[in-house]
Amino acid sequence: MKVLLVGSGGREHALAWKLTRDDESLELIAAPGNPGIAALGRCVKADPADAAALLQLALAEKPDLTVVGPEAALAAGIVDRFRQASLPIFGPTRAAAEIETSKAFAKDLMIAAGVPTAHAVRHTDPTAARRSVRELGAPVVIKASGLAAGKGVVVCGSIEEADQAIDSMLLESIHGAAGSEILVEEFMQGEEISLLALTDGTAVVPLLAAQDHKRLLEGDAGPNTGGMGAYAPVSIADAALIDRVVGEVFTPTLSALRDRRSPFTGLLYAGLMITEDGPRVVEFNCRFGDPETQALLPLLRSSLLEPMNAVARGDGLPPALELQWRNAFAVTTVVAAAGYPETPRKGDLIEIGDLPDETLLFHAGTTVTPSGQLATAGGRVGAITAVADTFAEACRRSAEGAERVRFAGRHFRTDIGWRELHRHARAARD
Ligand code: AMP
Ligand code: GLY
Repeated sequence: MKVLLVGSGGREHALAWKLTRDDESLELIAAPGNPGIAALGRCVKADPADAAALLQLALAEKPDLTVVGPEAALAAGIVDRFRQASLPIFGPTRAAAEIETSKAFAKDLMIAAGVPTAHAVRHTDPTAARRSVRELGAPVVIKASGLAAGKGVVVCGSIEEADQAIDSMLLESIHGAAGSEILVEEFMQGEEISLLALTDGTAVVPLLAAQDHKRLLEGDAGPNTGGMGAYAPVSIADAALIDRVVGEVFTPTLSALRDRRSPFTGLLYAGLMITEDGPRVVEFNCRFGDPETQALLPLLRSSLLEPMNAVARGDGLPPALELQWRNAFAVTTVVAAAGYPETPRKGDLIEIGDLPDETLLFHAGTTVTPSGQLATAGGRVGAITAVADTFAEACRRSAEGAERVRFAGRHFRTDIGWRELHRHARAARD
């Protein structure tokens, strides 16, 4: 089987790793891929946001299946184009991807479908937005509606901070058109989890729950990033909670999208706040999470290729499909470049020492220099996933693995999974 994989991050390396394990004779082409993926398949130059060029590539290569990593490709309508050309592709159409690309669309959809989420008001006028802030009171959340590379959300502790965020988006246009409409949103208190599910538009098959660590610094302090680490499974997301999220969140959301004649097929990611009143949606993403995927896929025993292929071909998910998982824990630590997240430095040479047992290094922002050396080429350079029988051991090995990926200016968090580690320690004491 021939698979075209679109993207170049750690998420795509994890997908490449899993798909080539699911079918050992799989022929993988990555567009554009990265040096880690190059060990598993052929990398071809490509811009994931150029759907027309990717279609030309696919018409020449004739893959049996195309798997899309980044939202940019989905927002550019890659799925619409491939389907018109009868090329099987796993992912949502541009219209269904609006669940991620327009926070205003997602909010309207959730409210119409009765999905639990924070109260929010849409604004394009700063004076009206300031009025909403005063009605809601602090803390309050200001969000750019469009795609802002994970930087479009400001959690504001005070009214003044909220006014500043409104001005920066609506008057100073720091996110360009993505911030020309904003949401003024109620602040939700709780612990966040990520629940990803495969769907054919109707049936829903959830993966294990994962938890991302979006803040740059230990103890979840500092600025937001794309994600500094993740782990799975999350003990607060037991089977009852996952069933509840499928019933209260995924099923009504997918039904509302079908009613709007844009059924969602592919991988739907719900970012959830587990509040005192139960799970409420923080955001949806129209694709696999990064770095959640790097923690989840090493735990998945059953095939990912088969359900992806079935969805892409329009056959629907196999009835009563249940994914099989290893009875173990996975912890993923991201190693980041100097200056990340503001201004990541490129070109630092990378040296990889011996990794601990049951540890995987997924490449992200790496490149091979003309002289054949591995060097940094992006903010998140790599992700080290450790799988172990105890949570504490997975944490330890993941941090140890991160330490062995060395380059100037490297930084990483050594406390990935700290909440879960406390829970395991408490359970062991009781
Ligand atoms: P998003 O890009 O929508 O995932 O938001 C980034 C982060 O901001 C989330 O992971 C949350 O930690 C935080 N956040 C977003 N919306 C809210 C909210 N309504 N209440 C509390 N925190 C939020
Ligand atoms: N880890 C958050 C995301 O993929 O958007």
